[in-house]
Amino acid sequence: MYEQVSHSLLNRILDELKPDIRKRDLRHFYTRLGANFYAIHSLFFHLYGQRDDFEQQMVRLVEVMASRYIERHKDLKKLDVLREKDHNWFLSQEWVGMALYADGFAGNLENMCSHIGYLQELGVNMVHIMPIQECPKAASDGGYAVSNFREIDERFGTLDDLRALAKNMRKRNMLLTLDVVVNHTSDEHEWAERARAGDEKYSQYYYIFEDRNIPDMFEETMPEILPETAPGNFTFDERMQKWVMTVFNDYQWDLNYSNPAVFIEMLDIILYWANKGADIVRLDAVAFLWKKIGTTCQNEREAHLILQLMKDCSQVTAPGVLFIAEAIVAPVEIIKYFGEDAVIAKECEIAYNATFMALLWETVATKNANLLNQGIQSLPDKLDRATWLNYIRCHDDIGLGFDDSDIARAGYNPLAHRKFLVDWFTGAYKDSPARGVIFGHNSKTGDARISGSLASLAGLQSALESGDESAIQQSIDIILLVHGMIMSFGGIPLLYYGDEIGTLNDLSFLEDEHKAKDTRWIHRPRLDWEKAGQRHTHGSVEQRIFSGLQKMIAVRKSIAAFSDYNNRELLESGNPHLFVFMRTSPFMQNENVLVVGNFDNAPQSLSLSDLGNRGQFGFGQLQDLYSGESPKSFNDQLVIPPFSFYWLTDRRTF
Ligand code: GLC
Repeated sequence: MYEQVSHSLLNRILDELKPDIRKRDLRHFYTRLGANFYAIHSLFFHLYGQRDDFEQQMVRLVEVMASRYIERHKDLKKLDVLREKDHNWFLSQEWVGMALYADGFAGNLENMCSHIGYLQELGVNMVHIMPIQECPKAASDGGYAVSNFREIDERFGTLDDLRALAKNMRKRNMLLTLDVVVNHTSDEHEWAERARAGDEKYSQYYYIFEDRNIPDMFEETMPEILPETAPGNFTFDERMQKWVMTVFNDYQWDLNYSNPAVFIEMLDIILYWANKGADIVRLDAVAFLWKKIGTTCQNEREAHLILQLMKDCSQVTAPGVLFIAEAIVAPVEIIKYFGEDAVIAKECEIAYNATFMALLWETVATKNANLLNQGIQSLPDKLDRATWLNYIRCHDDIGLGFDDSDIARAGYNPLAHRKFLVDWFTGAYKDSPARGVIFGHNSKTGDARISGSLASLAGLQSALESGDESAIQQSIDIILLVHGMIMSFGGIPLLYYGDEIGTLNDLSFLEDEHKAKDTRWIHRPRLDWEKAGQRHTHGSVEQRIFSGLQKMIAVRKSIAAFSDYNNRELLESGNPHLFVFMRTSPFMQNENVLVVGNFDNAPQSLSLSDLGNRGQFGFGQLQDLYSGESPKSFNDQLVIPPFSFYWLTDRRTF
């Protein structure tokens, strides 16, 4: 389609570009700009077209894209072209991720290089290094309150260290994921300091108000994200004597995306880190990007348009770079962060599957997969060329973010059920072996979330305390079972550092006044390398978990049916303790895998005839790809041991 308005604008913009940009050979850049320009122009116009300086802002936008393209290293440009040719590369089952803090895992970025071997031993080939950009020592929100988007905090090292690490990882075909905190800055960021000093340009980077009039209107419909530690959504700045929008902590100032200069700055920063070697950029708190009075200020349509625009622009400069949407919102909303269309309205290629995560925990607590089945059934299909990040634990709390209607359909009272889950995971419920703690209790709504390490939540801590070997084994089984689910569900499994050796809650955060009030620090440990060394001691807890995961990862990588082409079918098993689904191979016939997870502490049976006729899948001679063994069956009933899973194939050799 030839679109006259955008083409003539593009011609004008190209004429106006700075001479040093015009002089370069930008063949690939111009091809991509031409291909994406109609969309970029339409979106930019939709968001900012009413402004007098619209065209100047467009020129600036193109200049940023071109300048970052010119700076992009030739190795990265080569990768861009390769990935354009093989554009489904990230849907492969061969990717397995881990999220970690560089200091918690290895001390700093430089030491990361000497610990990559450990990740490779496990099979991890995608590493999300938690925020490393400069942030205040105290008010840091674990790195999510950035005071300088272009420097690395001295706690982690230098840009050179990162460059070396990125290069090292690239050589090993490992992907690097870095954060860009797009929704807010630290109140110590230069932009905030300038706004405080009365600089008009930077005042418009934030939402700043003279009095409570507008803030009060916003508050009528905005929920509180951190009700205990940072109630409300606005903070009075003493120095400025004005109110600033601070949805998260009072030191995190929300950026104002109704200002195109903010959009351009943040795009520039995304491309800056893409040029530092990030294969994937994790966009933090994307649901919050647009604020509108009378709404919750989450999941607004404009937030989606901003992400589409970021994607289109980033595709022009660095098309090999993917986005992860961190949007921990209701299931029907999460899915929208992939975009409306895989080609013309794409947002992020990857999104956290917070729904699956919360449902898995619910199933661990209840030993019943009803809600899990219900929740996954209600999850709308995602776009093509989009994939989930499936995880059990991460640096954040566990929010019980399932739909109330799903809870009701699964036969529970939503309020009572949520309370049960909080009690279960904090160990308050009778006989619960979990040892989590509460995060973000809201005394007005009664809402609460949960912090705690995977091992402590799964009962390993209490089992070790009591020395009960069967309880220890049971918690290890649970840890492996939930991983068996995220490895086979479809998407990139994202492990969390320390979980691979059963790291327990870390209470040291209580001694640090800047951390003590935020219980999420209980599960942000310094990896204990002595403990990690135990992974080679046969029979140790560490060895049982580590080698189980190692094997799981190796097997996952060999199963084409585990790649993510929306090739999953949920199956009704008739047994409430089981979660059953079929993964069909997108490339070859007859290479389907039946996944069965038993969340109960007793063996359960699966009646194969109840599953109906599943195409070519022959239920006669099944083999579990994980253990290599044939599962026990009795008549037509397959027996699944307590807290275990099968990845079943009907072929002897796969
Ligand atoms: C994201 C981060 C979380 C942080 C918040 C505010 O949700 O994962 O750790 O507190 O954004 O930046």
